[in-house]
Amino acid sequence: MSDLKVLAISGSLRGASHNTALLRAARDHSPDGVTVELYGGLAAVPHYNGDLDDDHHLPAAALDLRTRVHAADGLLIATPEYNHSVPGVLKNALDWASRPKGASALEHKDIAIIGASTGNFGTARAQLALRQVLAATHSHVLTGPEVLVFTAHQRFDETGTLHDPVTIALLRETLEALRTQILSRRAPVR
Ligand code: FNR
Repeated sequence: MSDLKVLAISGSLRGASHNTALLRAARDHSPDGVTVELYGGLAAVPHYNGDLDDDHHLPAAALDLRTRVHAADGLLIATPEYNHSVPGVLKNALDWASRPKGASALEHKDIAIIGASTGNFGTARAQLALRQVLAATHSHVLTGPEVLVFTAHQRFDETGTLHDPVTIALLRETLEALRTQILSRRAPVR
């Protein structure tokens, strides 16, 4: 069987983002049977505008996002925490991905949430806020393991590489749980 494809979306636009670095670590330490691909299009996604949300006006970046989410077997979303919630850029991208309602790319998509913040709570509040958003999309969000990377500035080296074995093991467990959930939802091949 070919590898499951997981699209990894970072909610940060910063070049030195801890969340993007966390996704790179997930990609580099992914378990057998899972290929993680980093989504790099977030900065190009315009503000959601219902007037543009039709076949004639859909912005290219929004179409690309929807196409890539559709094509992925699952999503791995790394959210920063901004003022106890999800950054606007991430919420905006999910708003685009959530349409058309009832037939969107997020419908029945298996999703794992992780996050890194420089604070002491490791994006706990942002992850809860993200769960609330995704509950509206009929996606299937993993309940665990929880990956809450607190004091993130102490966990990556100057190249943005993660060396902490505990966090690396948690990332692998998360992708293994996502793989199990994706496969459990598929009909058995006869
Ligand atoms: C933050 N940060 C932050 N951290 C936290 O733990 N709780 C919070 O509520 C906030 N709020 C917040 C608001 C805004 C506007 C900014 C810019 C930052 C700090 C945040 O965790 C830190 O900047 C992370 O490094 C952001 O993630 P990336 O960009 O490194 O992935």
